[in-house]
Amino acid sequence: MSEAKNSRVPDTRTLASEHERLGRAAVELVADYARALDDAPVCSDATPADLVALFDEPLPLEGSGAEEIFERVRRDLIPHAMNIPSPRYFGLFNPTPLPVAVWADAVASAINQNGAAWRNSPSVSVVEALVLRWLCQLVGYGPEAFGTLTSGGSEANLVGLKCARDHAVAGARDRGVRATGAGDLVVYASEQCHYSFIKSVDILGLGRENLRKVDTDSRFHIRTDLLREAIRRDLAEGSTPVCVAGAAGATSTGVVDPLDELADIAREFGLWFHVDAAYGGALAFSEKHRARLRGMERADSVAFDPHKWMFVPFECGALLVRGGGRVLRDAFDITPEYLSEERGGADVEYDFFRYGQLGTRRAMALKVWAAFKSLGVRGYAEAVERQIELVEHLAARFDELEEFERVGEVETALCCVRFLPPWAREKSPAEQDELQRALQQRVERSGGAWLATTVLHGRRALRINVNSFLTERRHVDYLVELLRREGAKLTEGGHSR
Ligand SMILES: Cc1ncc(COP(=O)(O)O)c(C=O)c1O
Repeated sequence: MSEAKNSRVPDTRTLASEHERLGRAAVELVADYARALDDAPVCSDATPADLVALFDEPLPLEGSGAEEIFERVRRDLIPHAMNIPSPRYFGLFNPTPLPVAVWADAVASAINQNGAAWRNSPSVSVVEALVLRWLCQLVGYGPEAFGTLTSGGSEANLVGLKCARDHAVAGARDRGVRATGAGDLVVYASEQCHYSFIKSVDILGLGRENLRKVDTDSRFHIRTDLLREAIRRDLAEGSTPVCVAGAAGATSTGVVDPLDELADIAREFGLWFHVDAAYGGALAFSEKHRARLRGMERADSVAFDPHKWMFVPFECGALLVRGGGRVLRDAFDITPEYLSEERGGADVEYDFFRYGQLGTRRAMALKVWAAFKSLGVRGYAEAVERQIELVEHLAARFDELEEFERVGEVETALCCVRFLPPWAREKSPAEQDELQRALQQRVERSGGAWLATTVLHGRRALRINVNSFLTERRHVDYLVELLRREGAKLTEGGHSR
């Protein structure tokens, strides 16, 4: 074999010193980023075209030095990143990541364990089983429960619904749904359910039209009377109801469906019960708020994302199953020739490729384990409770202001509101919706904060989530003033005419 090599490729003599040199550069870059975060704009005003122009270059033929590459990250990439870790990021369920989890994740990259098969990640796979047991304990499951870490809530919901489908229709896994003669298989969830349910029923061969989106009440909880009616109607028409899904922390509103009642309905009709607690599962940390999740422990499967309200960096979700690993293995197990060595059997229990859809998988467990150990249940409870208090304060501020009208309730750290100053109240629904968009855009362009809009019962609203443990009351008060200031400009700027 030739000893000649590209000098850019590390070898056994240079690997450690490269890690040391680049690790220091990365640490410095991240520390500078963190130091500037409280004052930095939350988002850049660059357009996609601006950024394409900034990064566009031909395929590099020669390599360049790592320092130069890091310098580009500092100069061109970070200033145009969305500052999700900012205390003034009030957007989607995207957290500030805990430093301990960030650096555990960096270590996971360096040791590059492949969490598909136990043999390729022995210690990490055992740690994964441990964090899954911790998560199962949190949701109120018994010792037989198990699960798998996933790339996020979307995959967790897909895996949960796969178990539901296979439970409902014997032979669906091996012969396909059509061959079983089961007819249309139907999944029930609220009209507020996450879009991953729509993708999942498609991927599982049920078809998008067989996700029954059940209307919600004035507080955006699923209407259980309509759910019962829908199941009865489908049964009468010869369809096969498969699964009832409840939300614990719905994407648009953060509210929690009546889980105990959903569990009753699922039992009454003999259906799988899945809870999407991707965000709201973290209420389980708090003695004060845990009661909201009552009934979740009766679910057959639960999606619970560490990369949402557990402050773990992307990506990391989890799907937990009350019936244990056997349920997942019935749905997913397979034994490829190259992964079928006999090692006494115990290792097979930790082969996570048998429990879900992924093959090669990152050592996600390491960052979750580090986060759990660092904060403990008490630390998480404190963070969750503080964030909910901040949103309650925010809601109270809006209630005092005549130009804002709140929509729905605060059940987690999420609050929805509409900007409706007196002059806008006579406007058409379309114009009022446009006003919400215009205000969101003004806030975004100011760089002072970021929030999303959503549609609730057909009307657009501002959606504000405190998802950072860095957020303090001053940041929330700042957001209110920013919304008022930018809202006043909309009033002056002609929207009122
Ligand atoms: C309630 C809920 N479920 C599932 C998901 C999907 O999670 P992910 O984006 O991690 O796939 C989300 C995402 O925000 C969500 O809000």
